[in-house]
Amino acid sequence: MKLINFLVRLTMLLFFLLITLIKPVQAEDINDGAKIFSIHCVGCHPQGKNIIRRAKNLKLRALKRNKVDSLDAIINLVTYGKNNMSAYEDKLTKEQIESVSKYVLQQAQNNWHT
Ligand code: HEC
Repeated sequence: MKLINFLVRLTMLLFFLLITLIKPVQAEDINDGAKIFSIHCVGCHPQGKNIIRRAKNLKLRALKRNKVDSLDAIINLVTYGKNNMSAYEDKLTKEQIESVSKYVLQQAQNNWHT
């Protein structure tokens, strides 16, 4: 009986350790703009293109033309969505939206050369 008790406690302790050790790593990973983009955005925006509305791509020229060439404007669009692009306010955290928006702006400034 004592041995079983000990084993149960040991398993609980190991689980607890596992969770506390793994969580921070994941959180950090998921705040990486490039990673968020590759999970949530690349389906419609491969290499900064737009497969649904070609002119609304993520190249700097298009962002300027469509007045989404600032971090605030991109954050706003991603948060609340626009036409055929859905809102991300319920899918991503504020920090994640900011990271992915920074990544988009950075990539646009580099002409999506990665
Ligand atoms: C289901 C397809 C789809 C997904 C997924 C998607 N978008 Fe879009 N995106 C669109 C469409 C369609 C537009 C054009 C909206 C409009 O009518 O102005 C757009 C427009 C944009 C624009 C403005 C481009 C411009 O030149 O006006 C940005 C910036 C953008 N998306 C970023 C993102 C980011 C960042 C993500 C991921 C978090 C994402 N999109 C996910 C379809 C998508």
